[in-house]
Amino acid sequence: MIHFDIISIQPGLLESPFQHSILKRGIDKGLISIHVEDLRPYGLGKHKQVDDYQYGGGAGMVMMCEPMMNCIEKLQTGKKYDEIIFLTPDGARMDQKMANKLSLSGNLLLICGHYKGLDERIRENVVTLEISIGDYVLSGGELAAAVLVDSIGRLIPGVLNDETSALTDSFQDDLLAPPVYTRPSNFRGWTIPDILLSGDDSKIDNWRYEQQLQRTKERRPDLLENED
Ligand code: ADE
Repeated sequence: MIHFDIISIQPGLLESPFQHSILKRGIDKGLISIHVEDLRPYGLGKHKQVDDYQYGGGAGMVMMCEPMMNCIEKLQTGKKYDEIIFLTPDGARMDQKMANKLSLSGNLLLICGHYKGLDERIRENVVTLEISIGDYVLSGGELAAAVLVDSIGRLIPGVLNDETSALTDSFQDDLLAPPVYTRPSNFRGWTIPDILLSGDDSKIDNWRYEQQLQRTKERRPDLLENED
């Protein structure tokens, strides 16, 4: 069982991603729970302000300390987070190892950034982990949070039907997944490798492993240098 709280000023962006497919199944089975907290009501003044100009000048607004802190403290009541994660392009790059590690958590808090960013004092004093989902800039952290929840949620035992299938994903063991085929074996003259029809499981396993190695060498040689 894993619980995610997500702080967002665009909660609508997170309505759909968790209502389908594998994540939905995990939620329905009670293995995953997700709560999206709208930051806006914590905003200051009659306009419920959550951002302000940056000290020192410069374009772009910065998310303020007070609304964020009040929101975090409210969510923290009666709960201990394993990590308080800020989604940001300058965070540590997300990978399968990170997903595996985070999937062992009980409670995670995800903070979605917007505008020019989040007041550094929250990052220094409250955030415990900063994560980027890749070297590109999104308009906000919401889509990144959805990616994080998906990659972690599917690893929770019982969420996938076939328990072994997460273990054979690309990146587990630092290898890309092998090619897969389904019926028919001949589609418009495009055939499948004979070995897959051989019925010899150990030969098929070897073939798949060879394919994984070859694919990884060709497409992601950097993964083969990662060997711990
Ligand atoms: N927010 C904006 N861009 C992001 C990225 N690449 N990863 C995580 N959060 C982000």
